[in-house]
Amino acid sequence: MCNLARFLILSGWEVELIRGAKGIEAIGWAARMIRPLADGGEGTPASQVAREFSISRLNGNEVLRISALGLYRAFINGQRVGEDALTPGWTNYDARLSYQVYDVAHLLKEGANTITIWIGDGWYRSPLMWIEERRKNIWGTRVSAIAEIRGGTGLADVVVCTDGQWTSGETPIRKSQIYFGEIFDATMTPKVKQGVEVVDFDPGKLIAHECEPVRELEPLDPVKEWQDREGRTLYDFGQNTAGYVRLTLAADGPSEVLIEHAEVLDKHGQFYNGNYRSAEAIIRLQVDERGLAGYSPHFTYQGFRYARVTIKGSARITRIQSVPISSVPQATASFSSGNPLVNRFFQNAIWSHRSNFIDVPTDCPQRDERLGFSGDAQVFAGTACYLADSHDFLVKYVRELMIDQAPDGAISHTSPHIVRVKPGKRMQYGSTGWGDAITVIPWRLYLQYGDRDILAETLPAMVKWIDFVWSLTRDGIVRPPATPGARGFCLGDWLQPKGPSSKPLPTIGDDAAATLYLYISLGIAVRAAELVGEPSIASRLTTLRSEVETAFRDEFVTPSGRLAYDDQTSYALALLHGLVPSDKIAAATGYFRSAIMRTGGRLGTGFIGTPALLPALVKVGEGALAGEVFLQEDVPGWLYQVRMGATTVWERWDAIRADGTIYDPQMNSFNHYAFGAVCEWLLEGVAGFRPDETAPGFESIVFSPTIVDGLSPVTAHYDSVRGRISASWTLVGDEVRYEFVVPEGARGTLRLSLEYRDAELDGTPIMAGVDAIVGPGKHVAVFKYAIPGRQLIGESLLAANMP
Ligand code: BGC
Repeated sequence: MCNLARFLILSGWEVELIRGAKGIEAIGWAARMIRPLADGGEGTPASQVAREFSISRLNGNEVLRISALGLYRAFINGQRVGEDALTPGWTNYDARLSYQVYDVAHLLKEGANTITIWIGDGWYRSPLMWIEERRKNIWGTRVSAIAEIRGGTGLADVVVCTDGQWTSGETPIRKSQIYFGEIFDATMTPKVKQGVEVVDFDPGKLIAHECEPVRELEPLDPVKEWQDREGRTLYDFGQNTAGYVRLTLAADGPSEVLIEHAEVLDKHGQFYNGNYRSAEAIIRLQVDERGLAGYSPHFTYQGFRYARVTIKGSARITRIQSVPISSVPQATASFSSGNPLVNRFFQNAIWSHRSNFIDVPTDCPQRDERLGFSGDAQVFAGTACYLADSHDFLVKYVRELMIDQAPDGAISHTSPHIVRVKPGKRMQYGSTGWGDAITVIPWRLYLQYGDRDILAETLPAMVKWIDFVWSLTRDGIVRPPATPGARGFCLGDWLQPKGPSSKPLPTIGDDAAATLYLYISLGIAVRAAELVGEPSIASRLTTLRSEVETAFRDEFVTPSGRLAYDDQTSYALALLHGLVPSDKIAAATGYFRSAIMRTGGRLGTGFIGTPALLPALVKVGEGALAGEVFLQEDVPGWLYQVRMGATTVWERWDAIRADGTIYDPQMNSFNHYAFGAVCEWLLEGVAGFRPDETAPGFESIVFSPTIVDGLSPVTAHYDSVRGRISASWTLVGDEVRYEFVVPEGARGTLRLSLEYRDAELDGTPIMAGVDAIVGPGKHVAVFKYAIPGRQLIGESLLAANMP
């Protein structure tokens, strides 16, 4: 969290950490990294290391500082320390490793005590990546842990720390990996009888966890339960999430329980998880007559809505719940309207955000990926910052991007980068839209939280990225290679719908997409350089930016104002980012409309075009069309999936066809947040509040609603670092009433579109198109909006082709 935010919204957790840690972040480590000799390597039972120790006098300030290569769970005198999940989290382990600090005085006693640390494979050495390129032991073959309990900051205050004196043994976790799931044998009594080895480890790599650790959310009870023909019990928890089941088992004797997970049922109502690809995503439990109370897996998580339970033996489930987990459990924004599908879509985006902000921003939580894809994070960052406080989380992520940045400046497709250590045939570096995460995300952190430090910290990496892309240009146009995996290969407008196969729709070319994004990144880097006082960088990049601007216009803007690639993404990005010359904007807007008409008023955009589509339409005065595109309920469109029962955002527009058939399992996640990026438009465009670049962090707030027929009444809020911003509007006949609240310490600018007439602000007439400045408090604007009489969508194809 940035400094400003620290003062303004100091969360309970931070207060606890600051109080409990007592300056511990500043002191060196007495502990050594130790590995359990009981560990048999990747895929074998999780190990534990343990130590008995004695305390003569407790001072009440004792803290445990702890981390591991692997995932750990610590116990003092048999009681779990803290409630965080998947600690120490996921970083580029050969460069940095997070540690956590917990108050533990209440778990200790004077006299004899025991500390035990369980260690599983986790991200450190679980096989990761899709099956053809699956890699295990990415960061190392040996798990290990480092921990110390201290009563103060001096060396003499160390109560116990990991060293060669500890013992090790196996745990009831017989296998545990990220995609695999967990095998747990509740019948075994673990013995700790082997030793440990002190391993070479540079404590300089240890960093205090930079964002909130992964936490459990309120558990979800099943909403439905039934048996299939094979006698297995299925549970529907009503919500797709990332997390795990928690269950209690009673048994009369030895039994085995298998739990499988799925996001959807197929069209026959059968359990379906073909889309998990090679991720096993199972939990297997061995129990005896003692049963098992409140079990949930330790070092793994799954993306699921349904669980299927197969029992061999007498075991019975007496309670089962789904426990969602997330690094961003608290929502900070809401949006509701008169359209229930839209309202549900917004909730779905919140759930996809939660499910994919698990210490790293992942593409999806269920299949054999769950990786920190930079493109997905780039397009969703704005929405993420609204839906929950994502500052610290994204700062951590951009630091990972910088660590993974290649010497030539290329940014990796995923971070922490799983091919960094053992490069494969496809290098996964340097794509347009993915690599631009290094400019777009810091800029969003500046706008949203007023964090200028992150601009200073990332500017060198931004410049390196730009120079990398520049090296792919000829005459100001980026020319990415066509071979997948080649240096600078461009993923283009990923997952752009292709239209009917009889007449495929044009899509943006890689050269135009890459040149547009180079222009966007240059614009951000120029502003960042100016803001952090680097005028020579700003001036060099300004020159490159003008070259790109001229080249783009020469190459891709035809004399009539049509773009060379005549598709929605090209128009959306070029118009939104000012690459169409002013004398051609009207004509280009006509062609933009035509591109939408050719798809029957549906979107035709992929990952990079979708977030720009509706803001671009609003910018060129086509707010009503933006509303129609957004509200149509067929494929491709945001609301179709809601109609089909989605509870999270789908990866593909057509993941389930209208007849219930499920798309090819090869790439079909039901929990991918990228297309949820439209929520940024719902808040900034429709509800109409957004940060002002000239006074970021919502010191100045621009209020500029887009009235969409069919959405009234709209109401939204956002808990910014300045306090709560809210806005709502109703449209009755042609009368709009827009109410908005500016928090204390901030100021607002009401900027009404020219098409809104007879406007009044707080009872005084104002001119549409002219900014009105207001102070903190509630304000009311009333104005007239005539819904366009023409039927926008459905105009004839012929007419649509004529701007
Ligand atoms: C992921 C995407 C990602 C893409 C890029 C996919 O498999 O799920 O979200 O951005 O790969 O390569």
